Amino acid sequence: MGDLALPHILPRVHDARREARKYANFLLALHARRAGAARVAHHPFDLTVDCATLCQLHCPYCAVGNGTIRRKPSLMDAALHERLAAELAPDLFLAWYFSAGEPLLHPRLHEHLARTAGEEAFTVVSTNLSVPLTPARQEALLRSGLGMLSASVDGASAATYAQYRRGGDFALVMDNLAALARRKREMGLQFPLLEWRFLLFAHNQHEVDAARAMAADMGLDLLEFFPGYALLPGAPGEQGVHPMTIPMPQRPISGPAYEAGLARRETLVQRLVADGMPPAPAPVDTAVDTPVDTTQDTAQGTGAARSGGIGGQGGTRRRCDWLYYSGMIYPDGAFGPCCVATDADDDFTRLDAHPDFGAAWNAPAFLRSRAAFAAGDDGNGKKRDGGGAVASDVSGTGGAAGTVCDRCPLPVAQELQFVQKVRAILRNAPDWVVRILAAAPGEFFLPSDQRRLPVELAALHRPDARALPADPDALARLRALAAAHPDPALARCADILERGHA
Ligand SMILES: C[S@@+](CC[C@H](N)C(=O)[O-])C[C@H]1O[C@@H](n2cnc3c(N)ncnc32)[C@H](O)[C@@H]1O
Ligand code: SF4
Repeated sequence: MGDLALPHILPRVHDARREARKYANFLLALHARRAGAARVAHHPFDLTVDCATLCQLHCPYCAVGNGTIRRKPSLMDAALHERLAAELAPDLFLAWYFSAGEPLLHPRLHEHLARTAGEEAFTVVSTNLSVPLTPARQEALLRSGLGMLSASVDGASAATYAQYRRGGDFALVMDNLAALARRKREMGLQFPLLEWRFLLFAHNQHEVDAARAMAADMGLDLLEFFPGYALLPGAPGEQGVHPMTIPMPQRPISGPAYEAGLARRETLVQRLVADGMPPAPAPVDTAVDTPVDTTQDTAQGTGAARSGGIGGQGGTRRRCDWLYYSGMIYPDGAFGPCCVATDADDDFTRLDAHPDFGAAWNAPAFLRSRAAFAAGDDGNGKKRDGGGAVASDVSGTGGAAGTVCDRCPLPVAQELQFVQKVRAILRNAPDWVVRILAAAPGEFFLPSDQRRLPVELAALHRPDARALPADPDALARLRALAAAHPDPALARCADILERGHA
């Protein structure tokens, strides 16, 4: 799935103990990113668990489908998955069970989903759905606790569909989707949300209305149109499939789950953002954020926070959010930094080389990449290589890390990949988290977050957010978590919670 709908559809964490742990970890992630820490003591709050790096289709611009990926086809075994889930699932808000292949080719996928969903992580599967599914398998998937099943169906007719989903069986896909929707209704389940995701190209853009009618007919929860990546006719490497030539359709995301999500008013942030926002604080141009002293200990927080909230004059430099928020785990235990570096030679380490996940996430490649980003550039948006010369690549780390980050394949992912995820988590935040973030935003957000998260950050400035009362139960829970956690920043969070906005 794309994640544009996420701020509206991500459910809250129901269990208070789990919610406390996940949000404590989330605060630590924000704090470490803000400080530009190289070594981290929190866990990812988002993770890609790629259980199957193989596919039966041949989609022309997919590195798996066209065979250009440099990664072996394999399936994740149960022991590796259990190790991951035991360590990480309690801290995860989101777990993406797909990346470089077709997840339904893993016969035990539903068991893995159930394990992670059992810890209230929202699990997502994107699938070509061109796989025969017995009623028993359909039921196992529906009952697994899966949060969303997103079916990649780029066409509303067999002939159109087959032009991109080469080797796929349109009739089988539609039968599967309709059967899942019917069975889900019969079982009275709210989740998984069933989504039809339609990549738009020049050859299928005329089928938007047909897809809308079919999705409504089947009773799907969501329909998303998204521009498919493709090369222009005649461009080197073009594959006979070309970019869409029409404007994006009105309502690129629709469906009953999305409509219901827009109406949610369960938390203070959801109510504040729905209630007509005042203009966000004036945007600060922070393509290169400037350093700030984060060591001062005041109730109001430091630097940017004291100077009037998020942004202000303070700040720190560029980051790649992947290195603080998430990671990619492949079936053989390889640990990659992000979804844009998909070849095995770009992996940072292997899980089995470390005693635990925390050690793996602090492997030398992670430390070097985080440090290289935090060291920043020369202030003019130019990167310096190891010898001090201005490197031609101004979007990666410019040569300082000795990792794929030096030549980041898609720099926009560094700062935009997590916008919707963080928005979703902030919108669901319980009052005690809002009280902390509203009291000391400069300890958790970069000045440049103001342009990434203008609506949610403006909500934190509202008097209602700043005046939230202390919550003794939440404070006790946070103090207990802090006492057992190696990162002193959690005790700092508890102090802020106690004192509130001064
Ligand atoms: C590599 S696929 C793996 C999951 C599954 N096999 C599928 O196709 O949904 C991950 C995502 O990439 C998307 N994708 C494939 N080709 C694309 C393209 N040309 N442009 C944008 N997204 C693409 C798929 O639709 C899917 O959402
Ligand atoms: S179905 Fe998914 S993994 Fe398979 S070739 Fe197409 S995009 Fe790639």
